[in-house]
Amino acid sequence: MAAFSQVFPVYWYEDHVRLIDQNHLPTSYEVVEISRSDDMATAIKTMIVRGAPAIGVAAAYGMYLGAREIQTTERDQFLTQLEQIAKKLRETRPTAVNLFWAIDRMLKTARQTVGSVSYIKEVLLQAAQKINADDIATCEAIGEYGLKALPESPEKLRILTHCNAGALATAGYGTALGVVRSAWRANRLERLYADETRPRLQGAKLTAWEAVQDGIPVTLITDSMAAHCMKRGMIDAVVVGADRIAANGDTANKIGTYSLALVSKAHNIPFFVAAPLSTIDFKLDTGAQIPIEERDPVEIYQIGQTVVCPAGAEFYNPAFDVTPAELIQAIITEYGAMRPAELIQLQTKQVV
Ligand code: MRU
Repeated sequence: MAAFSQVFPVYWYEDHVRLIDQNHLPTSYEVVEISRSDDMATAIKTMIVRGAPAIGVAAAYGMYLGAREIQTTERDQFLTQLEQIAKKLRETRPTAVNLFWAIDRMLKTARQTVGSVSYIKEVLLQAAQKINADDIATCEAIGEYGLKALPESPEKLRILTHCNAGALATAGYGTALGVVRSAWRANRLERLYADETRPRLQGAKLTAWEAVQDGIPVTLITDSMAAHCMKRGMIDAVVVGADRIAANGDTANKIGTYSLALVSKAHNIPFFVAAPLSTIDFKLDTGAQIPIEERDPVEIYQIGQTVVCPAGAEFYNPAFDVTPAELIQAIITEYGAMRPAELIQLQTKQVV
């Protein structure tokens, strides 16, 4: 039976946004209702909603929720207050560029809409819903193009992924896991391997959960096992998502992605990045300019409630790293799979 994810981590429901609380998966499935922009900012910061495209969709709704709270009917005052809401949302997470892309798009929509403040608010809700719906369609297109880009082989493929670039990280279907889902539906996938993804374990908690939901065979490994599995001939391709891609194709994604790209190169295994156009930051020439989020060291020194290191140790907890373009075989967007050097051709297609 073909698998098609029915997981939608962020969506509009009657008069509020609903989020799947990703901090509680896989132990419990809880849905959080968000009616205020400040609560949306907190949800993004605390990673109730996470993954670059999902963060973008959530921020777009956050902009609408904020607009709805503004009392004035005077256009200029409204736009000034909307800028303040944008500022708060921008401060939530620094690396995923979809956050800034979605906020800018909502601000632009507000500025360009002619009519009363209440009409602008209506248009903003429609704009957020469009970003939401477009993201699902985009992921499905990435899945189909990714399927065509995978290595040709009479055998079914064993694909390794890192972190969670699945339905939970998007509005639905996923980017890297979109490719995996499309391969599964086309009967071209033997098995998904998922890195657990220390320190927050998105691979173990979220990717493995999604695969199990869809009946996709999944084997969970720790991050340090990837090279060993490759050496033993257990992996045919690696597909990961992205939080921000510079114009030259350098790609920021979850910490550990860079090591995975290096070991893929060493074992001659193709390494793919799957991401929507909204994840490409054409303003940045190279990955060296991408801001890297550093998170609370508690994520390193504590597992669950247990402290796992001696007092006196110091910590470093970057949430992302940058994979150089030369390690990437192709970047798969909703416009097709292309070499990193060709990415610049897409610049004119980006709608902000
Ligand atoms: O810190 P997270 O969980 O938000 O990081 C998520 C990732 O690194 C994903 O791989 C990336 O956002 C792509 S999601 C389609």
